[in-house]
Amino acid sequence: MSRASTATALLLVACASPTAAPADTAAAVGPQTWLRHMEQLDVHCSELHRALLQSPQGDLKQAAATAQQAAATLALGYGRFENQQVPGFARYARDAESWLLQVALEARQHHGDLAADLFRTGRERHCTACHDAYERAGR
Ligand code: HEC
Repeated sequence: MSRASTATALLLVACASPTAAPADTAAAVGPQTWLRHMEQLDVHCSELHRALLQSPQGDLKQAAATAQQAAATLALGYGRFENQQVPGFARYARDAESWLLQVALEARQHHGDLAADLFRTGRERHCTACHDAYERAGR
């Protein structure tokens, strides 16, 4: 997904008022809590793990699409679901988004090994960093 379409997705989310939105709009913007988004993110990461880290690799085009979706989820962490109680939350979200966009870019260009390396090394860093910050904040 381009920056522009990420922005569009965010705009759609921002415009969907939880009280006034019809039910189908709520469905279109996805889960209503950060935790639900995290669960979806976890599913996407499992799919990426299978596609990128197992031999032979899976469909790289599909992996790129999955990484894009995961990146879009993380973008909500500096938008709709930014957690102001956790120092650095927005930055962790942004860094994790960039990481997954990079994975998507390499997968889309059929750089399977690069995408796999990026995915493997980044997961520890980006997912864990924010979870640790969240725990440190006692939230
Ligand atoms: C910007 C911060 C941030 C980033 C980055 C982040 N998470 Fe999370 N994650 C959280 C927070 C905060 C919670 C706790 C949410 C709650 O309990 O309401 C959480 C919870 C989760 C949970 C649920 C755990 C449980 O106890 O059920 C999963 C699964 C998860 N994250 C997966 C991931 C994965 C995989 C990544 C990396 C691809 C990731 N997260 C990146 C902030 C983040």
